[in-house]
Amino acid sequence: MVYEDTRTEYTRTKRKFRFFLVVILSVLLYFTLLRTIGQPLKLPAAVIAQRTHILEQCKYINTPAGPPPNFRSRTHSDRYVPGTKPLWLKNAKLWTGARNGTEVIYGDILLDKGLIQAVGYIPPRLLSHPDLRVEDAKGAWVTPGLVDLHSHIGVGSSPSLRGAADTNSRKAPILPWLRSIDALNTHDASYELAIAGGVTTAQILPGSANNIGGQSFVIKLRPTSERSSISKVIEPPYTLNGSHFDHSLTPRWRHMKHACGENPSRVYSQTRMDSAWEFRQAYNEGRKLKESQDQFCAKAKAGLWDDLGEFPEDLQWESLVDVLRGKVKALHCYEAVDLDVIVRLSNEFKFPVASFHHAGETYLVPDLLKKTWGGVPSIALFATNARKKREAYRNSEFAMRVLADHGIPVVMKSDHPVVNSRYLLNEAALAHFYGLNPALALASVTSTPADALGLGHRVGTIREGYDADIVIWDSHPLALGATPKQVYIDGIPQIEDPQVSPKPESFQVLPKTPNFDHEAATAVKYDGLPPLTSRKSRHVMFTNVSSIYTKNNSHIEVVDFEGEESKWLTVAVRDGIITCVDKGDSCRYFLDDDVDVIDLRGGSLAPGLTTFGSPIGLVEIRLEPSTNDGKVYDPLHKDPPSLVGGGEQAIIRAVDGLQFGGRNTLLAYRGGVTTAVTAPSGEFLLGLSTAFAVGASNALEKNAIIQDEASLHIAVSMQFTASVSTQIAALRRILYDAHVVSGDIPLVIHVENVDIMASLLHLKAEYDRKTSRTLRLTFAGAAEAHLLAQEISDAGVSVILTPSRPFPYTWDQRRILPGPPLSYDSAVTTLLAKDVNVAIGVVDEYTARNTRFDLAWAALESDGKISKAQAIALATTNVEKALGLPSGPWHDIVAYSGGNIFDFKSTVVGVVSAQRRVVDIFN
Ligand SMILES: *[C@@H]1O[C@H](CO)[C@@H](O)[C@H](O)[C@H]1NC(C)=O
Ligand SMILES: *[C@@H]1O[C@H](CO)[C@@H](O)[C@H](O)[C@H]1NC(C)=O
Ligand SMILES: *[C@@H]1O[C@H](CO)[C@@H](O)[C@H](O)[C@H]1NC(C)=O
Ligand SMILES: *[C@@H]1O[C@H](CO)[C@@H](O)[C@H](O)[C@H]1NC(C)=O
Repeated sequence: MVYEDTRTEYTRTKRKFRFFLVVILSVLLYFTLLRTIGQPLKLPAAVIAQRTHILEQCKYINTPAGPPPNFRSRTHSDRYVPGTKPLWLKNAKLWTGARNGTEVIYGDILLDKGLIQAVGYIPPRLLSHPDLRVEDAKGAWVTPGLVDLHSHIGVGSSPSLRGAADTNSRKAPILPWLRSIDALNTHDASYELAIAGGVTTAQILPGSANNIGGQSFVIKLRPTSERSSISKVIEPPYTLNGSHFDHSLTPRWRHMKHACGENPSRVYSQTRMDSAWEFRQAYNEGRKLKESQDQFCAKAKAGLWDDLGEFPEDLQWESLVDVLRGKVKALHCYEAVDLDVIVRLSNEFKFPVASFHHAGETYLVPDLLKKTWGGVPSIALFATNARKKREAYRNSEFAMRVLADHGIPVVMKSDHPVVNSRYLLNEAALAHFYGLNPALALASVTSTPADALGLGHRVGTIREGYDADIVIWDSHPLALGATPKQVYIDGIPQIEDPQVSPKPESFQVLPKTPNFDHEAATAVKYDGLPPLTSRKSRHVMFTNVSSIYTKNNSHIEVVDFEGEESKWLTVAVRDGIITCVDKGDSCRYFLDDDVDVIDLRGGSLAPGLTTFGSPIGLVEIRLEPSTNDGKVYDPLHKDPPSLVGGGEQAIIRAVDGLQFGGRNTLLAYRGGVTTAVTAPSGEFLLGLSTAFAVGASNALEKNAIIQDEASLHIAVSMQFTASVSTQIAALRRILYDAHVVSGDIPLVIHVENVDIMASLLHLKAEYDRKTSRTLRLTFAGAAEAHLLAQEISDAGVSVILTPSRPFPYTWDQRRILPGPPLSYDSAVTTLLAKDVNVAIGVVDEYTARNTRFDLAWAALESDGKISKAQAIALATTNVEKALGLPSGPWHDIVAYSGGNIFDFKSTVVGVVSAQRRVVDIFN
C-alpha cells in the first residue's frame, strides 16, 4: 500500500537521522572535550579569521574612546602638509590655555611637521632646518587656535542659499543616523571670516529642528589641498566607513546633536512631553541593540560559536549604542525643565553628557547639573545673546561667572551664524567683562571646548606635541576688538597679507572690569529676571569725572583729563540739567542738601546713544507673536484690510504699537543707550519709525516720545517675493505721491546690495530733477555701500551700517568689506573717507546694549582715523542727521563709572535725562 511504503520509508529516514545525530553529537563532544583540555583546534583558516575578527570587534566595542596609547610619541601630525616650512616665533607672550587658562609663558615657540615642537626655550638643535622661517612676535600675545564647540559653518552656507540649506532635516524628530559631514559645503564664506577671528577648529552640528538631529563632526577650518569635506575632519571616527576597519585601533570620539524644547516642538508640532518620549524610545532601541551585542560577545568570548550568527548591527541605532558605551560626546539644551529631562534620561540609560549648549538656565540649577550620569557636563553659552525665545528669556550675562563659581566648566560658543563666529573671542571678552575670571574666559574658547570634544590631547592648548594651531593677536586677547595678526593651522599661515594697524598700549594688558558681584547674585535671586528699573533723583553731583563729551548741535565736544587725576572734575545736575562743572567742591553751592553724590572714580559723562535697526520697543520675545507688535501688511503681496486704507495710503506708524519697559529696552538703557528709533517690521513698505526715550516707563510720560514720526521706511531686497524691479516701481509711485512723502521726513531705505543702491541713487536723481526738490535719503543695512562710497557721498545720502561689522548672511550682502585683518579699511572708514554721513545700527534688539563697544571697535580698527568724538558721533549726531531727529538743545547724558564710554572697565551708573528732567540711577 502506498501508505505502508511511505511508512517504511519514514522509519528508514528516522533511523538514518538518529544515526547522524549520534555522529554529530559525538563529534561535538569530541571537539568540546578537546577544547576543554586545551588542545588546539584544527579549523579552516577562514573560520579562524572570522572568529578572531569577532573577538576583536567585541573588544573594540568595549574599549574607551580617546587618543591611541602611542599618541604622545608622534613626530608629525596626521594633518601635516609636506612642504610646510617650520616657524620659529620669538618673543611671544604665550597664553597656553593649559591649567584652566592660568598659564602664561614668555618666550618662543617652534612649529614644525604640523606640531608644536617646543615652547618657551627652543633647543638650538631644533633650529637647524634650512627652510626655517624666523619671526619676531615683539611681545605680542599668542594663544592656541580658538575652538568653537557649536557651529553650523558649511551645513548652512553664507551667503545663505536654498540650494545649500542643509542644516536641518525635517524628516523625523529622531535621526541619530544622519551625519553633518554629508552636508559640509566647502565653499562657505564663513571659513575665511572665522579664521580671520582666530577660530581654527569647530564642531559642525546639524540644526535643532530634531530631538536627535544627527552626528556632528569636528573640523579644522583651513582649506585643504584635497578640497574635500572629509579632509577637514579631525580624527574621523573609524565607523565612518561602516563596520569593516581594523578593530585593533583605539576608538575615536564621536559626536551627536540632541535638542530639546522649542525648536523641535515648533517643527514637529510636539510638546516637551513628546520630546522626552522621543528620546526614551530612541534610547530604548539603542539599549536593545547594545544588549544583543553584549550577549553575542559574551557567547563569543565563552567560545559558544555555534548558532552564534552575525554580530548584531543596525545602521540606524548603532550611534546611540556608542552613546551608551560612553564613546559619543553627546550634547543638549536650554531650560531647567529640559535639563531635568536629560539628566533623568542619562541616569535611566546610563550615559554621560559632554556638554549642554545654549543652556541659558543652567546657572539657576547647578545642583541638577551635578546629578548628570557620569559627571557634570561643560556648559556652552552666549555672552549677551538672549531673550529671542521664551527658553532664552532668563539667560543672563552673569551665567558664566555663576557657573564658574560652582566649579562647572564654561564654554563660549558661536552657534554660527547666530553669533558670527569671527567674533567668538569677543564672547569670551564679554564673559570676562561680566565677571568670569580671565583664565577661565580664555579657556572657554580654547582648552575647555577642546576637552568637551575629546580633542584636548591635540588642540586648544599650546604644548609640545600638540597641533600647530596658534593665533598671534594685536592686543591682549580679552581686550575689546582683539584681532589676529596671523593665524596658523597645522603650522600653515592662513592670512595671506594681514592688514592690522597697531593698537594703543593700554590694550596690551588685561582689561580691568567692573565689580558685578551684586548684579550676579541678583540675577540668581530673581530666577534670571532681576528688576531693571532705576531710582529717580533730581539733584546729583558727579565727582571724580575725568572726561566729558557733550553734543553741540551736530558735533561732539570733548574735555578729557584721563590719567590726570589732579584735574578731575565735579559736575552738578539740577532738575536733569548740568548746571556746574568745576574742580573741587564749588559746585555744591548749586544744589540743595538732598543731593545724591556719585563718585565716578575717574569715569566719564557722554551723550546718550541712539540705537537703530532692531525692532526694539516693538518686540519683547521675538519668536513669541503674543509679545510683539507683529508684522505690517505687505501691499505688494496682499492689500491691507480696506478699513486701514488702500495700498500706499496705509502707512503704519511704529509709535502706535510701541511698548515700554521691555528687558532689551531697559538693558540697552543700562548700556548707555537713551534713544531708540524703531520702524515697523515687515517687507517693503514698513511705515513710519518713531523715536522714543528708552528709559521712559510709558508713552504718556513727559517726553517719552521724542518724535512720533521720525522717517519713512522702505525695504528693497532680493529676499522678498516681489521682484526688485517691482519694488522699485512701487517706490517710484510712492515717491511722486506727495501724500506719502512730505518734504522734511527722510526716506530710509533698508538695502544691502550695491546694484539696488545704484538704482535708488538713479531714482533719487530723477526725483530731484523732476520735482526740483531734494529727497532726504538714507540707506540702512548697506553691507555693500563701501563699493559705491563716492556716489553715495555725491548724492548726499546718509548710511546707517547695520550691523556695524557686516557679515554676508544673504546674497544681497555678499560683497562686504571685512576689515582688519583681511582688509585695511573697514566699511565705516571707507565711507567716512568719502565724507558720507555714517552711523551704525544693530540688527538684534539684545545687542543694542553693546552699542558703546561697537563704537569703540569702529574707532580701534580705523588706524587712528576715527577720534573718540567721531566714534560717539556714529551713534549720536550722525544717526540723528540720518533719521531726521532733533539734535538738541537738550540731550541725555550718561554717567560711566570707572572708565569712559568705550571701556571694558566702566559701567553705566546713571542717566541724566534732560528731556524727562530726572536722573535715573542704577544700582
Ligand atoms: C580646573 O578647574 C576644575 C574645576 O574647578 C578643577 O576640577 C580642575 O582640577 C582644574 N584643573 C587644573 C589643571 O587646575
Ligand atoms: C575611509 O575610507 C577611505 C577610503 O578607503 C580612507 O581613505 C579613510 O581613511 C577611511 N576613513 C576612516 C575613518 O577609516
Ligand atoms: C557750540 O559750537 C559752536 C561752534 O560750532 C560754538 O560757537 C559754541 O560756543 C559751542 N557751544 C558750546 C556750549 O560749547
Ligand atoms: C575721588 O577719588 C578718590 C580716590 O581716587 C577718593 O579718595 C575721593 O574721595 C574721591 N572724591 C570724591 C569727591 O568723591
